[in-house]
Amino acid sequence: PVMSQDELKALVGRAALDYVEPGQIIGVGTGSTVNCFIDALAGMRERIAGAVSSSEASTQRLRAHGIPVFDANDVGDLAVYIDGADEIDPRGYMIKGGGAALTREKIVAAQARRFVCIADQSKWVGTLGRFPLPVEVIPMATQRLIRQFAALGAQARVRLRDGAPLVTDNGQHILDVTGLQISDPPAFESMVNDWPGVVTVGVFAHQRAHVCLLGTPEGVRTITF
Ligand code: A5P
Repeated sequence: PVMSQDELKALVGRAALDYVEPGQIIGVGTGSTVNCFIDALAGMRERIAGAVSSSEASTQRLRAHGIPVFDANDVGDLAVYIDGADEIDPRGYMIKGGGAALTREKIVAAQARRFVCIADQSKWVGTLGRFPLPVEVIPMATQRLIRQFAALGAQARVRLRDGAPLVTDNGQHILDVTGLQISDPPAFESMVNDWPGVVTVGVFAHQRAHVCLLGTPEGVRTITF
């Protein structure tokens, strides 16, 4: 029988448990794939010390399962960060932020020694950029940043929710940028990070994945970078 995208997400969510060691505090990302991981993690909650979370949504879900959530400042380096992606390429570079949590995701990823990306096979791409690139911005800079992207031949739009700009967990806005082909993700990430008013660009090259657990109809493909 053909596996649905939801079944592939559940498959890789469970597979990620193999990367969790007893007694650890683990970094937890955001999104529908990570929700499958959090639900699977509930089964071993007695054996883990807790989590550092990348969003209010994941924090609520972790706590609902009785998993303690710690402030990033109250713990040291994390052994592992587990998160999904909107796109991942053959070098482990990713686009993230479809769920608007990219800034905290990058912060927790930077605190972890290893990034395990869990994704269904639809996320696997040759070159990043088909998925609209999320960029968290300070609202005062929005129109100038839209013009800076236009100068690259790209179109940036403010992400809306219920007709008004979406406000992130950090009180900022999101631009979604189409028309990009990101052939050199580390250079692109550095360039956009340098633009005043950019909080975080959704290219994860400096915080790339070290392992990808890719859900396919034949099972979980483990790719190491
Ligand atoms: C959240 O901000 C994103 O970076 C998610 O990791 C990404 O959108 C993947 O989400 P799904 O697992 O829901 O596809």
